[in-house]
Amino acid sequence: MTEAILLVGGKGTRLRPLTVNTPKPMVPAAGVPFLTHQLARAKAAGVEHIVLATSYLAEVFEPYFGDGSALGLHLEYVTERDPLGTGGAIRNVASRLRSDPDEPVLIFNGDILTGLDIRALVATHRSSGADVSLHLTRVTDPRAYGLVPTDSTGRVQAFLEKPTTPEEIVTDQINAGAYVFRRSVIDTIPADRPVSVERETFPGLLAAGAHLQGMVDSTYWLDLGTPAAFVRGSADLVLGRAPSPAVPGRCGDRLVLPRAQVAPGAKLTGGTVIGERATIGEGAQLSGSAVLSGAVVEPHAVVTDSLIGEGARIGARAVISGSVVGDGATVGADNELLAGARVWCNAILPPGSLRFSPDQ
Ligand code: GDD
Ligand code: MG
Repeated sequence: MTEAILLVGGKGTRLRPLTVNTPKPMVPAAGVPFLTHQLARAKAAGVEHIVLATSYLAEVFEPYFGDGSALGLHLEYVTERDPLGTGGAIRNVASRLRSDPDEPVLIFNGDILTGLDIRALVATHRSSGADVSLHLTRVTDPRAYGLVPTDSTGRVQAFLEKPTTPEEIVTDQINAGAYVFRRSVIDTIPADRPVSVERETFPGLLAAGAHLQGMVDSTYWLDLGTPAAFVRGSADLVLGRAPSPAVPGRCGDRLVLPRAQVAPGAKLTGGTVIGERATIGEGAQLSGSAVLSGAVVEPHAVVTDSLIGEGARIGARAVISGSVVGDGATVGADNELLAGARVWCNAILPPGSLRFSPDQ
């Protein structure tokens, strides 16, 4: 087993403004573009050749990762002129695969942070003789995902992408975004038109009697598609709760990258990462947050579970919680930004313009 396809062409709409200038897989998590963690984990599982299926902001991947040799991988890039959807993207890279028709090819969604045992998924695939095998995980609210009921042997009975009616919510097992395809199955996906692997390919294969095998694995799993999840994932990587060989430093309460300046009285906890050349002022308190490169957090600001974009500036005594501050934005002193706030890239919030007090 040596090959994988990584789907990295999505627009990352729910992550805006983080994804205005940067495709979702290139947004830094624990100090490096998120994709680095997925590549390093694949490499650690014995994958050697990875084809990146790119579309949105495709041009930024290759200058950063090149031929992959720095990670010990051989990387190739295939860009869709118009987005082809998940299944179309898989089919579109088929000519770059080297595996024989019966060999397994791994496929990963590009926004999943997980401790999945990749080798075990391939082993399950081989021993069950399936056409396609899927990593499944259990969640409390499955509605935002692909629901995948299985029989007692793990064989997939149906695939229900983002169900809209209560009758469709038949299981709490969801598609966790990692598959093994028998190489020849990839060649059956129609070429040169958009195809959703979730809405078309999987239901079509099941209707045709193909063998889809599910492997439920309850290890760490997070889809980093929303700002809150992205910040959580970054902190879990720093804390060592989410496993990755690519965290640039030792795991613990905090990670401070080279050339960052942190005042001695600043407090960094809960998996906070401070990017290169960022500056943290005296008395600032940061918890569970990611401060990207070149950003400035002024004295006595309090930043919790938030992401501060590249070159952004947080004024003195500002309180930021569960929020995203876009690249280059300025949040003036004494502002309060609470859960779900998004400050657009380069926006300027004058000092003291936003306040939330319990008595209001
Ligand atoms: N190349 C390419 N072209 N990639 C694409 C395209 C495309 O047109 N559309 C989406 N992708 C990539 C995204 O970049 C992402 O890595 C992956 O395909 C999945 O797309 P998302 O937009 O993140 O889908 P989702 O999170 O709503 O749902 C998917 O993931 C869930 C698990 O997190 C589905 O696979 C669900 O079934 C699954 O449960
Ligand atoms: Mg997703």
